[in-house]
Parts: sequence; C-alpha cells; structure tokens
Amino acid sequence: MEKTLAIIKPDCVKGGNIGKVISMIEEKGLKIVAVKMVELSRKEAEGFYYVHKDKPFFESLISFMTEGPVVLMALSGENAISRWREIMGATDPAKAEDGTIRKSMGTNIERNCVHGSDSPESAKFEVNYFFSSLEIFE
Ligand code: CMP
Repeated sequence: MEKTLAIIKPDCVKGGNIGKVISMIEEKGLKIVAVKMVELSRKEAEGFYYVHKDKPFFESLISFMTEGPVVLMALSGENAISRWREIMGATDPAKAEDGTIRKSMGTNIERNCVHGSDSPESAKFEVNYFFSSLEIFE
C-alpha cells in the first residue's frame, strides 16, 4: 500500500467543493487515512513548496496557498500516488482531461483546486510534513 498527500486548495474550499473532491477520491477506491482543515502560515507554505523556491511563480503561489483554509489529507491505496494524480488531471486545468478535478473545478495553472505528491520521495516528505504517525489511521 502506498500513501500520498492530497491538498484541497483555498480556491476549491471557497468554491464549496470539499465534498465533491472527497467523493471523487472515495468513489475511485482511495482511502482517506488522515484529514484536517488548516490555514497555512507563510512559513509552512514556503517549507512545503521549497522545491519551487526559485520559480517565477513562487511568491504568487505562497500568497494563494495562504489566502484561506485548505484541507490536508493522506490517501492510501495501491499506486495511490499515480491514481490520485490521474483523478486530479494535469497541473493546468486547460490541459486536464474531461472528468478530472482540475478540469471541472480548477481556474488556471495556479488556482488549480488540488495538490498531489509527484513521487514516493515527495509523498513521504509531504505526508510527514503535515501529519504525525498518531494522526494517520491505516
Ligand atoms: P501543485 O501541484 O500544488 O504544485 C506546485 C503548484 O505551483 C501547482 O500545483 C500550481 O498551483 C502552481 N504552479 C505550477 N506551475 C505554475 C505556473 N507556471 N504558474 C503559476 N503557478 C504554477
């Protein structure tokens, strides 16, 4: 069983789409093993997205991710990382396939509704960044 981190971003929370996203996760057979709603501090957001710190969009991304509450989840299942990425769709909603979360609920390449880990290494870092072992129910 693999674990991955999922974030429902501020745009998606504001849009009233938490339930829709969670339904899609569960309908596709991934198990939510940890969940919490938080407002990220700038420090927390910067630490989470440190791999992007030199990108031109970094400042804007941090402002976006701290503009309101987010829902953090750890998902578990066989090939959870790639399965969650498929459910999300491409980073840019304009390029995402029909039926994906980003296609139906994302606004643009930044305000793209959800996040998912992109590799086993980042999944480990990201799940541990937000959840202690006591908060994960497997
Ligand atoms: P996410 O999957 O959370 O990983 C990094 C985030 O940076 C991404 O989703 C988008 O929210 C944002 N992002 C990626 N590329 C760009 C870009 N070219 N311009 C603005 N934001 C971007």
